[in-house]
Amino acid sequence: MFDGKRVYAFILAAGSSERFGMDIPKQYVRISGKTVLEHTLEVFENNEFIDEIYLIVNPQHRDLVEEIMVRNFFKKVSKILNGGKTRQESTKVAISALEDLDSYVLVHDAVRPFVSHRIINAVLDKLKEFESVDVAIPATDTIIKVSQNLISEVPNRHELMLGQTPQGFRAGVLKKAYEIFDRNPIAATDDCTLVLKYNLGRVYVVEGERFNIKITYPEDLYLVDKIFQVRTAGVTNLETADLRSLKEKVLVVFGGNTGIGLKICELAQKYGAKAYAFSRRNACDVSSPDDVRKALREVNDREGKIDFVVDSAAVLSLSTLDSSSYDSILTQIMTNYFGAIVIAKESFPFLQKTKGALLLFASSSYTRGRKLYSIYSSTKAALVNLAQALSEEWAVHNCRVNVINPERTNTELRRKNFGLEDPSSLLDPHVVAEVALKVLLSNFTGQVIDIRKQDYF
Ligand code: C5P
Repeated sequence: MFDGKRVYAFILAAGSSERFGMDIPKQYVRISGKTVLEHTLEVFENNEFIDEIYLIVNPQHRDLVEEIMVRNFFKKVSKILNGGKTRQESTKVAISALEDLDSYVLVHDAVRPFVSHRIINAVLDKLKEFESVDVAIPATDTIIKVSQNLISEVPNRHELMLGQTPQGFRAGVLKKAYEIFDRNPIAATDDCTLVLKYNLGRVYVVEGERFNIKITYPEDLYLVDKIFQVRTAGVTNLETADLRSLKEKVLVVFGGNTGIGLKICELAQKYGAKAYAFSRRNACDVSSPDDVRKALREVNDREGKIDFVVDSAAVLSLSTLDSSSYDSILTQIMTNYFGAIVIAKESFPFLQKTKGALLLFASSSYTRGRKLYSIYSSTKAALVNLAQALSEEWAVHNCRVNVINPERTNTELRRKNFGLEDPSSLLDPHVVAEVALKVLLSNFTGQVIDIRKQDYF
């Protein structure tokens, strides 16, 4: 409810993504373990003012929609309607199904998963005063009108904005627009255009956000992955995770006898968790399936369950490839990469029982290879890819897997390779441990969480 009125969100997901060029429409592509549509629905489901959601889909994709509905409990989704051939026809289906015309309606593209509560609330707020409300951001490119490959007009950029969604309407106004549309259809790519063209009142514009992008082309997915990463970076987004929920949790940390792994064990124990550390120091080689299995079974036999598994085991030998021995190369690959594969594979049966989570450690060097780090960085890049794939495979079992990507951290591994550095220029391993435990307790999956010094000091 907002301003004494019921609020309905129409989520338009009936498009067939012709410009996208993949087998499935973009609203069904998975990002960070969930489909784009699930991310979008989650925002509206969690918004305090939204009462009901009408989801408009293409009947061809009903099976995909049903899978989503089975996996989630979206209590606000009250209707799942078959959309039309065009976006307008899809909105028309939704407004025709709405009986309460003294309500507020938000029409939103399913392929804009980054819509914020700030935008939704700002649109609703302006509906108190205006019949219709649009969302837009200033145009940064010069927009030109073109006819037969020749510029016919260059409108003044300062008056131009780029439209986003949700577009908000007083329900009666949107209903009226579509009644006129039936008799006198006009071509439009959104709903505010109809209100304007049919003279149905003023359309107020609230400021959108650059992150509120419409996923349109396959290359947008790179950007989308990055936006997820940026949005989850920093402790603030994990604030809701309370470390006290670690009480009675059972945690296994491979590589837990030194560095970040050790700090994770210490902090988890402080909050009442049972933390078990394994590493070569207690004869557990992460690249040995037998060793890893034995360690996990030992903990499970003693505690009766395993909630979380962390892999912080890594070796780094700074060297050009040319001067690296095959022994050194294989040790890094076997510990950093194969070890993570073994830990994931062996942990899964235990985590499946507790709906638990796995956490891997990448490095800030994973996105871009650097000289002297060719093997280390490429194993870390592989871990990110591994975690993304596993997050999809494990989603159906309600298990989660994430990767933490810490900047330079004050650990033994760092000191061994770089000697003494000014500690104030390095991340404190306590901070990394705290974020790691919060990620384990969160509902994140398939995410790469950057920990940057600037976010913590
Ligand atoms: O094609 P366009 O970029 O305008 O699509 C915007 C949104 O409208 C998408 O979320 C798409 O799924 C939805 N749409 C729809 N029915 C159509 C065409 C598009 O629900 N026939």
